[in-house]
Amino acid sequence: MKINKKVEDAINKQVNAEIYSAYLYLGMSSRCAETNLKGMANWFYVQAQEEMTHAMKFYKFVLERGGHPVLPSVEGVRTDWKTPLEMFAAAYEHEQKVSALINNIVDIALAERDHATASMLNWFVDEQVEEEANASEIADKLKLIGESKEGLFMLDKELSTRVFVDSTQPAGGAQA
Ligand code: FEO
Repeated sequence: MKINKKVEDAINKQVNAEIYSAYLYLGMSSRCAETNLKGMANWFYVQAQEEMTHAMKFYKFVLERGGHPVLPSVEGVRTDWKTPLEMFAAAYEHEQKVSALINNIVDIALAERDHATASMLNWFVDEQVEEEANASEIADKLKLIGESKEGLFMLDKELSTRVFVDSTQPAGGAQA
């Protein structure tokens, strides 16, 4: 069954929102890299890569269901973040907004009795739980660390270990 127009519009908007997320995190990554927080730069860079896989999952779904992808311009982002806490707190806030957007698409899909879309969206509903938790956990750690340079160094080291895994793929395998 061809995708319903209201659902198609909402998903097209979400493609843009996910690419915006990638852009937002790339901006944060650049700020961390410039301030020599290489682990955090890595964490945000991997996050930006993940956001692109989210965008592509939505994009492919529109095509698969016989819809028409619409690709308007992506809003610019700031790169002048002052502290790591400011960035991770903003990331957490942003992920809460993304969860609300996803929930809204679920509502539209259910109202339109589009169960194929609702089923696909379950993956995103689960993913958002993790997305919010990841950002909020790091923001909490940064609050605990406060002004401690040693604490910041340790956390930065911990975040340098994050590697990109394309979790939108069935086997969870990494993609080139
Ligand atoms: Fe694609 Fe961070 O949500």
